[in-house]
Amino acid sequence: MLAANTGALILAAGKGTRMCSPRPKALHTLLGEPMLRHVLKALIPLFGESVWTVIGHEAGMVRQAFADHAMRFVEQAEQLGTGHALTIAWPDLRAAGIERLLVINGDTPLVTSRLVEAFLRDAEGTDLTFATLTVKDPGSFGRVIRQGGKAIAVIEARDYDPALHGPEPHEINAGLYMLRLPAIVPLLPRLTRDNKNGEYYLTDLVALATEAGLMVNGLDCGHDPGLLGVNTPEELAGSEEILRRAIVHEHLAAGVIMHGSDCIRIGPNVVIEPGAELSGPCEIFGASRIAAGASVASHCCIRDSVVATRAVIHNFCHLEGAAIGPDCLIGPFARLRPGTVLEEQARAGNFVEMKKTRLGRSAKANHLTYLGDADVGAGTNVGAGTITCNYDGRHKHRTVIGADAFIGSNTALVAPVRIGDNAVVGAGSTVTKNVPGGHLSVTRTQQKNLPWNKK
Ligand code: UD1
Ligand code: CA
Repeated sequence: MLAANTGALILAAGKGTRMCSPRPKALHTLLGEPMLRHVLKALIPLFGESVWTVIGHEAGMVRQAFADHAMRFVEQAEQLGTGHALTIAWPDLRAAGIERLLVINGDTPLVTSRLVEAFLRDAEGTDLTFATLTVKDPGSFGRVIRQGGKAIAVIEARDYDPALHGPEPHEINAGLYMLRLPAIVPLLPRLTRDNKNGEYYLTDLVALATEAGLMVNGLDCGHDPGLLGVNTPEELAGSEEILRRAIVHEHLAAGVIMHGSDCIRIGPNVVIEPGAELSGPCEIFGASRIAAGASVASHCCIRDSVVATRAVIHNFCHLEGAAIGPDCLIGPFARLRPGTVLEEQARAGNFVEMKKTRLGRSAKANHLTYLGDADVGAGTNVGAGTITCNYDGRHKHRTVIGADAFIGSNTALVAPVRIGDNAVVGAGSTVTKNVPGGHLSVTRTQQKNLPWNKK
């Protein structure tokens, strides 16, 4: 962790016009995580709580998406440019005693802690350091102007005039800065909107600091992909693919077995133990964990779920917030929603949906079933077509089924209702009252066979 007077500022207030989407750019996702979360993930190990994020466009949506995080937001109601964003954040930074400030564009999701750490080291002793990249086409990036090898200015794409500034350089500003605030803050009032975009450019600080005789360093980071910016859907797809490959490679190298690894998408916070086996295409996102010896077949989507050892997830399953115990068999075509718990050797087969439900050890629901707000005891068999009717139109109610019970096919269990241990419910029943343990309950009408003359 860095000194207490060191902080970080993420600029994420912009609209992201080039994404052509109503969603703020910070919330566009790579491997299931919003762009902003990727940047935070790189910064928090270094800066701890001293990370501020400037938001503005659709700020409410961003706050909501990060409601579970202790975030320090600064609101830039009108987005008048990156220099303006820093000016707006300054009072909060001053109040916190921040003197060395890392500033990073929020649209650089591939940044890593290691990259930032190295940058901070290289920036030591300077008043302003900014990272530069060498690219084939400088496109919409700010161009770096050097004189005698020293970076003296950044000229934004629209303002660059070869007649005035010389031939287009291939060195561009990456959007990562280290500022010594006591030296830089006095320059902020000198930023103007006198440019083609009518914005206060943070990048104008390079020329202003140079003119003021401060120590300015344009740090050449070559082709480092960690600094790639995302402005368009195409750049988002490109960055996501770079990240996907890196994560897959890491898991393969650690001993995870993968079939069709080109089509496997694993989120940055997912833990997969060596010896787990995955088949693509599949997606494993959020805070999921797949244990050694577990296997996930193709076409599965898993989020925030735990799959224990030797569990088998057959094709086309959808797991969210589920905990699958050792030796369980799931699917194909199962949908396990938040709060689903399967204890060891339990089974949830094809076209089974579960929500807030526990299936006890070796319990089975193998076909065409909905179990919601239910507790099913060990060894119980839930027959095909069983439905827990958990919703009365206003409230949700629980169904509790004991151990070693047998629920016949096509049964409706109208909650709240309890079925005791070793009880049996006859097929086709609609159960509205509790069934005591060890009893057989049948609610269907008796079959009558009447004479019939088929003409
Ligand atoms: C910026 C740099 C450019 C650099 C490029 C690298 C400026 C003026 N230009 O250009 O030199 O080559 O990044 O990717 O800084 N933002 C705010 N408030 C605002 C405006 C923007 O918070 O008022 C945020 C955006 O959400 C974004 C970041 O600042 O995350 C950069 O803004 P963007 O508009 O993407 O700048 P670029 O044109 O990419
Ligand atoms: Ca950008």
